[in-house]
Amino acid sequence: MTIAYLNGDYLPLEQASISPMDRGFLFGDGIYEVIPSYGGRFVGFDRHFDRLTAGLSSISLKSPFSAVALKNLLEELINANATLDTSGGLGLYLQVTRGTSPKRNHQFPNSITPTVFAFTFDIPPPIAGNVDKAHTFSVVTGRDLRWQRCNIKSVSLLGNVLHMMEGVAEGAEEILLFNERDELTEASTSNVFIVRDGSIRTPNLDHQKLGGITRNMLVDMLRKHSTLSVIEGTVSRADVSSADEVWLTSSTKEISPVVQIDGELVGAGRPGPVWSEAQTLFDRYRFDY
Ligand code: PDD
Repeated sequence: MTIAYLNGDYLPLEQASISPMDRGFLFGDGIYEVIPSYGGRFVGFDRHFDRLTAGLSSISLKSPFSAVALKNLLEELINANATLDTSGGLGLYLQVTRGTSPKRNHQFPNSITPTVFAFTFDIPPPIAGNVDKAHTFSVVTGRDLRWQRCNIKSVSLLGNVLHMMEGVAEGAEEILLFNERDELTEASTSNVFIVRDGSIRTPNLDHQKLGGITRNMLVDMLRKHSTLSVIEGTVSRADVSSADEVWLTSSTKEISPVVQIDGELVGAGRPGPVWSEAQTLFDRYRFDY
């Protein structure tokens, strides 16, 4: 049984209920985070907290907790779910919406208490750069049709969901998205890296993509602990098509190799050596960033 957190209470997930007048339900008016943990230790907690705070501020929602209060809340939630099989890790889903209002008005209501909801879910164990254990992805490509503020981790994910379903309809597990200039933005639930001629590239951060915590940690780790070059800048469709390796990153998949794009193999169609080096590095330092 999964224990959830809702507005101060820890309770079985099935018993957690939220009013249909909650603005998260009516308008997608809220911010979320997905924070990975292994053996009770968070990965990138401070970075997740900072992104959450920035996201809440960007929609003029006052953060309902300090970093310490949020950490305590989530640690209690992990403990409450410790009886589950955690051979892998526990992902923490956290959502803060503007709250429930008696009327459906687009404008923000004056005084309203945010709704805070969290639950845990299993995530796979780390694989330490082992090529044979990697979860590899076949993906398709598509035009990024989402809104102009994808840097906000908003719960309004319909654009992402529809893009994911474009991929699923073609038998893929993810979709790489390109803007109208045919520049790579990100994927529907992940950031993207490519490796070409031994150098690693990832799109620079702007309003068209989420500043992924996994992405940012990986860039920092590579720069500090490896001799590999990492460039943040424009990645064109041609760069992706001619890449030796392509990776997806997110809190639930860490660094995952893409082996096929639109039916064409990426490199040799297997996780590449640079991926293995990067994932091994991530395994070593995931709790230090
Ligand atoms: N998604 N880009 C998008 C659109 C995402 O939804 C995510 C993560 C990322 C990677 O961000 P991070 O490394 O901080 O997880 C990039 C989460 C896991 C989700 O929605 O479930």
